[in-house]
Amino acid sequence: MIMVAITWIIVLILSTGLPVKQSLMDSMQPHRILVDSDVDTDDAITINANGWSDGGHAINHLYDILFMMDQDHIPVGVGGEGGILPNGTILPNVGGFLPIIDQGMSTAGGCRYRQAIPVGVRGHRDVNSNFGLRKSFLPQGGRKYTPLEQPTAQQVMLNAISAGPTTVFLLGAHTNFAIFLMNNPHLKKNVEHIYVMGGGIATNCLNGINSTSEQCSSIGNLYPKDSNPYAEFNIFSDPYAAYQVLHSGIPVTLIPLDATRTIPVSKDFLVEYEKRQNTYEAQYCFQSLKMLCDTWINDRFHEEYSMWDSFMVGVSLSIMRNSQSYNGENEFSEMEYMNITVVTSNEPYGVSDGSNPLIDGLAVPKFNVTKNGAHAGHAQMGMLDPFCFKIGKGKCQDGNVKEVAGPEAVRVLVATKAKPSHYSGSLLQNEFYESFLDVLNSPKQTGRFNISTQFPYYKEVVYKPDFEKKIMGKPVVYDMDMSSGDFLALLYLLKLPVELINLKGILVSPTGWATSATVDVVYDLLHMMGRDDIPVGLGDVFAVGQVHPTFPDIGECKYVKAIPQGSGGLMDSDTLYGLARDLPRSPRRYTAENTVKSGAPRDTDHPELRQPSALDVWKSIVESLDPGSKITILTNGPLTNLAKIIHSANSVSVIQEVYIVGGNIDYDINKGNVFTVPSNEHAEFNMFLDPLAAKTVFESKLNITLIPLQLQKRVGSFSAILNKLWTKNGTPESVFSGRLLSRQWQLQLRHSSYHHVDTFLGEVLGVVILGGHSHLNLTYNFKPLKIVADGDISNVGQIVIDEEQGKLVKVMESLNVAAYYDHFAVVLRDQNQSAVIGSFHEQEKIWNTPPNQNIY
Ligand SMILES: *[C@@H]1O[C@H](CO)[C@@H](O)[C@H](O)[C@H]1NC(C)=O
Ligand SMILES: *[C@@H]1O[C@H](CO)[C@@H](O)[C@H](O)[C@H]1NC(C)=O
Ligand SMILES: *[C@@H]1O[C@H](CO)[C@@H](O)[C@H](O)[C@H]1NC(C)=O
Ligand SMILES: *[C@@H]1O[C@H](CO)[C@@H](O)[C@H](O)[C@H]1NC(C)=O
Ligand SMILES: *[C@@H]1O[C@H](CO)[C@@H](O)[C@H](O)[C@H]1NC(C)=O
Ligand SMILES: *[C@@H]1O[C@H](CO)[C@@H](O)[C@H](O)[C@H]1NC(C)=O
Ligand SMILES: *[C@@H]1O[C@H](CO)[C@@H](O)[C@H](O)[C@H]1NC(C)=O
Ligand SMILES: *[C@@H]1O[C@H](CO)[C@@H](O)[C@H](O)[C@H]1NC(C)=O
Repeated sequence: MIMVAITWIIVLILSTGLPVKQSLMDSMQPHRILVDSDVDTDDAITINANGWSDGGHAINHLYDILFMMDQDHIPVGVGGEGGILPNGTILPNVGGFLPIIDQGMSTAGGCRYRQAIPVGVRGHRDVNSNFGLRKSFLPQGGRKYTPLEQPTAQQVMLNAISAGPTTVFLLGAHTNFAIFLMNNPHLKKNVEHIYVMGGGIATNCLNGINSTSEQCSSIGNLYPKDSNPYAEFNIFSDPYAAYQVLHSGIPVTLIPLDATRTIPVSKDFLVEYEKRQNTYEAQYCFQSLKMLCDTWINDRFHEEYSMWDSFMVGVSLSIMRNSQSYNGENEFSEMEYMNITVVTSNEPYGVSDGSNPLIDGLAVPKFNVTKNGAHAGHAQMGMLDPFCFKIGKGKCQDGNVKEVAGPEAVRVLVATKAKPSHYSGSLLQNEFYESFLDVLNSPKQTGRFNISTQFPYYKEVVYKPDFEKKIMGKPVVYDMDMSSGDFLALLYLLKLPVELINLKGILVSPTGWATSATVDVVYDLLHMMGRDDIPVGLGDVFAVGQVHPTFPDIGECKYVKAIPQGSGGLMDSDTLYGLARDLPRSPRRYTAENTVKSGAPRDTDHPELRQPSALDVWKSIVESLDPGSKITILTNGPLTNLAKIIHSANSVSVIQEVYIVGGNIDYDINKGNVFTVPSNEHAEFNMFLDPLAAKTVFESKLNITLIPLQLQKRVGSFSAILNKLWTKNGTPESVFSGRLLSRQWQLQLRHSSYHHVDTFLGEVLGVVILGGHSHLNLTYNFKPLKIVADGDISNVGQIVIDEEQGKLVKVMESLNVAAYYDHFAVVLRDQNQSAVIGSFHEQEKIWNTPPNQNIY
């Protein structure tokens, strides 16, 4: 079994040291290098957003690393809003969020291949946050993602490659580069060589020798293997793209699993590495590797984990240094020429079964693929695709890199085996690890500082308010999915007098508009408001029913695929429209630290830091309740967490009532807002994103007040709310809210990807209603409601009025809109319960000033 957590972000850093430093070595000719996804170089980096990380987190992480390494001049590209037309015409700036065969005109789309990658632990969340080490270690500089100003992946590639002969490193999915080649065939001549980390070839297995060995039963590294035992993650993420790259006519060198399997991270290596941490980058990479080891799912880390990408970079650079001899002579790996191809679909070819968008329903296949050719078979539809599924050994081969003869074959230089160390008696066994530690610890061009040495007076301060004399108000739990409106609502909630509303805890649901690593923005906002006392619990990463039945780290994306991944979607929520980095940095943050007691394979070094789950936080709040008091819940996202609470023991009886922002009723006249699923005209996102959870809630005994879409739409005016907020004598929180809202408004005016952002404005309504204010003239009605959750994507999430089976729900009907805007602004501008530290900038000033001096 191979459970891979390719933390390509870490590897990226590991490799950061390599090219930059080695390019200083005299023997090396200057090379222009473009790296897609995971590494930094002298010339340009593009981030592949179709793999292990999400664009918004990845870009800011990369900027942090480049800042540490004093490489802020390197251009970085990510995303893009271009699409591919139904007739196969590729528009400029395709963002690469989706595999090429699934790319239409939007950045929203399915996860047929990507679902093989875990979403939370050991997957996206740990990569996006680098286990929490990114925030605890890396310094913060001035570069950051800004919507519509961030250079796209295609722009950066075009600039780099049109400037002259370039070598390309591909360390993730091939989507970006394949799109570049398909769109710019005239620039192929500028690409000298492509180095690829990926694939598994297993020559011996095909030859019949050793075909029963363990290696042959798992040529690839996906897990579980009952659908496709052949593919490796990078190639599997977009097999059609890998095919385009391999068959482009440009010389390719491949560093496959066959080679990386010969250099697992041995115990001796880790022990030696622990002793040799002379630079910041060595420290950061060591801490990352140690955390990977400590959180590895089984006891075979030292057999199963290789530093795939850094090995590939090391081998490639060594080949480039020796480029006089063209047989790939290098210090680190044995090389061999092979004739290979990439499998993009499964036989029989030409049978249109609904799985392959290149041929299904098209009179003329897309991209001119041959109707009965190798691209026209069954394309794998996920990890539970019945076509592929076979107990024992799955039968799909999408992404398989295999040796072939004949016209389909491309002659490629392939790394086969790491070379042993030339020092006799070395503990490190192979030459690459020797060099790796040397390079990482070399004092040349080293990292400048970490976050605590970036500032002379850096100090982590925990802010907790003193409410001792106050009589606390209604206990409230706030459940959010981290859409931008949810952050405004949170600010408002923190401003309501604690005598009225006592916010006991926050539950975060990563099944909606943001990915789970964004929980750090919640921590930062609480820090700004001086509320480091409020617990934050992270909910399940999958909507109810979406998790894989036997391997709970992975799952389907049936509903969440409706959220765009690029502009106006995940990339912007994950960065709070580029403003998250302006918030002060909290000492609290997501961490992969964990304990056996909470289900981890082993205790890590700091189990006390563990990120609590939503249910942990809920339980501790219930335990701390005064006798007789009950909790009011406000939900601003999908109902995943609330459904889980309902299923937990003794919960319903301690819930006073629930305010639910979401749902769309009276839909004869009112349309829903799930704009990426046109067939579903009537659903509202929060219900659509987890219909089974919504069903549980609407069938429970809870008293529900619904703030439906129709009412939210009435308070969706940017100009009205900004008029009230943008006046003199604001507070840091009103100024921040104003900046966020005016940025969204500008974006809405500038680009169609942002047409929906006023939806988030309406989400603030729930907190205001919860706060209650007589001038709002609220009216409501009771209606018998039922949620449609039958699995049909064009109906799920709709609410129907059902006199017989519906649950009687209090539905808000109207409010005084003018009073609402006024009230919202008055509360945010109130000097009471205001921010204790306004911004990161203010924090920088404090950290640059001796403790006994006034900062101003
Ligand atoms: C594809 O469709 C677009 C828009 O409908 C059109 O402009 C373009 O010429 C078409 N391309 C081909 C190759 O048919
Ligand atoms: C940052 O660097 C300093 C000096 O090397 C070190 O003492 C400190 O532990 C580092 N911070 C972290 C979070 O590792
Ligand atoms: C077959 O497998 C064994 C053990 O895994 C290995 O020692 C041997 O070199 C392999 N033979 C070939 C031809 O690869
Ligand atoms: C690869 O194909 C070429 C041309 O068909 C052939 O000359 C060569 O022997 C093949 N190499 C291998 C390793 O099969
Ligand atoms: C498809 O074939 C047509 C006609 O031969 C050609 O004009 C067009 O460029 C081809 N398109 C692609 C994407 O190869
Ligand atoms: C719901 O509200 C009604 C009326 O206010 C009350 O009688 C009932 O006990 C409440 N139900 C629960 C489960 O709290
Ligand atoms: C709101 O209610 C107050 C009295 O409670 C009334 O004077 C006022 O006209 C109402 N405003 C609206 C817009 O309905
Ligand atoms: C702010 O707090 C003070 C003291 O608690 C109180 O007297 C005052 O009314 C509050 N201001 C507002 C606008 O609520």
